[in-house]
Amino acid sequence: MSTESPPDAMSRPVGGTEYSWCRAVPGGTGVTALALLFSKPPNLSHLQSSIHKLQHSHPILRSKLRSDPSTNTFSLSTPSAPNALQIQSSDLAQSFYQALENEMNINAWRNQDNRVTENDVMFATVYKLPDQKWAVVLRLHTGVCDRTAAAFLLRELLGLFSAGEKCVDKEIAKENGIGLPIEDCVPAGKASKPFWARGVDMLGYSVNSFRFSHLEFKQPGLPNSTQYVRLQIGLQDTDRILNGCKSRKIKLYAVLTAAGFIAARASKNLPDDKWEKYSLATLIDCRALLEPVLSDHHIGFYHSAILNSHDVKGGEDVWDLAKRIFTALETAKNNNKHFTDMADLNFLMCKAIDNPGLTPSSSLRTSLISVFEDPITENSSQCHKEIGLLDCIGCASVHGVSPSLAIFDTLRDGELDCACVYPSPTHSREQMQDFVDQMKKILLGSNSSQ
Ligand SMILES: *[C@@H]1O[C@H](CO)[C@@H](O)[C@H](O)[C@H]1NC(C)=O
Ligand SMILES: *[C@@H]1O[C@H](CO)[C@@H](O)[C@H](O)[C@H]1NC(C)=O
Ligand SMILES: *[C@@H]1O[C@H](CO)[C@@H](O)[C@H](O)[C@H]1NC(C)=O
Repeated sequence: MSTESPPDAMSRPVGGTEYSWCRAVPGGTGVTALALLFSKPPNLSHLQSSIHKLQHSHPILRSKLRSDPSTNTFSLSTPSAPNALQIQSSDLAQSFYQALENEMNINAWRNQDNRVTENDVMFATVYKLPDQKWAVVLRLHTGVCDRTAAAFLLRELLGLFSAGEKCVDKEIAKENGIGLPIEDCVPAGKASKPFWARGVDMLGYSVNSFRFSHLEFKQPGLPNSTQYVRLQIGLQDTDRILNGCKSRKIKLYAVLTAAGFIAARASKNLPDDKWEKYSLATLIDCRALLEPVLSDHHIGFYHSAILNSHDVKGGEDVWDLAKRIFTALETAKNNNKHFTDMADLNFLMCKAIDNPGLTPSSSLRTSLISVFEDPITENSSQCHKEIGLLDCIGCASVHGVSPSLAIFDTLRDGELDCACVYPSPTHSREQMQDFVDQMKKILLGSNSSQ
């Protein structure tokens, strides 16, 4: 792609993966919400100036996304004049979770009348909730801010925001421009694959990818909103699960997925030994694998997905299935699938967006579950207590092209806290609450020793 744009460009066309997000977000996938719950009214002028500092240090956060729907072209540009974000106020939520859901379903990037538009990539809203609580929600376009960047942003924001409360003023990381798209940072040779292999893989993906088993669809057709359900596991059980992963040399995502697959099959009352094929999208943060290597401070989208599937027939041991899931991903990574198939998967996602009929029941579901290869780790601090921070959730909308359940896992003070999101009315709240409760039961019942 464009080698002429230097790393500190103040404007450039979007790269291939960013392009897919620019196509997906208007349909309802990739509106990231970072929600903070406070026990005292946040000082809005201080909050706003903290956000401005972040926008100053990370130009992409004050950039404008220009969309031309008639040609499907998109570009990012950063005005030299400060583009000062204004915090909005709302009292339209009765709870923290409602504020979070509400924000995932506000879509500033939907383009109804096919005109060229220029939109901000970040918004902030404060909600006055009942019982003397306040929620602050940042809303971002996922194409410019992946989960790693979002977690970093949250840490920086909390550092800046609590600095006034006699906490150490954080040295904030600074970037000079918008940064490169991921495609421009793939190490030489890693993305190439033989022409024939590309054709075979594309055929494999297009014929098979959408033919896997899914959860029961409560309503066919396009979903129109994203809903949230939480999966939390206490300190001791989380510890036990993490030790189980460690002793088997696997990662947390594999056992989460295994629990999800087992719960999915159990939800269906199938005869014994009937096989189901479930698909998984694993999002891999490529920052450490790129050239140049990028740090977490690099705001942008630098994840790549690996899509694979597993047969489940019921009666599996959760750890055995987890090991199988983990081994399959390791093999794919060793074959550089996260680089070689990036363009194919982006193409496939755009195909599904243009032709929802390719997906089962036109629901735009492309896999059963999506997970991140590594969890986010966050610990609370004295500063957080002083600013009255009670809770914190980060996730993104999925009612455009997406899986049925997207899991955003965090280890917070050693406890597993998963933000799980699903499309509605494709899946119902009752169905997904049950599903996640089953997953939790399976995780809690898992015997961690080998
Ligand atoms: C809010 O923060 C600003 C600094 O940004 C400070 O000058 C002001 O006194 C604070 N207001 C309150 C009510 O604490
Ligand atoms: C979504 O569609 C359902 C019917 O399919 C409707 O009841 C609901 O109000 C719609 N929600 C939104 C947010 O438009
Ligand atoms: C976070 O807290 C957990 C449990 O309290 C602890 O094991 C871990 O080392 C902490 N991590 C950091 C980075 O402080």
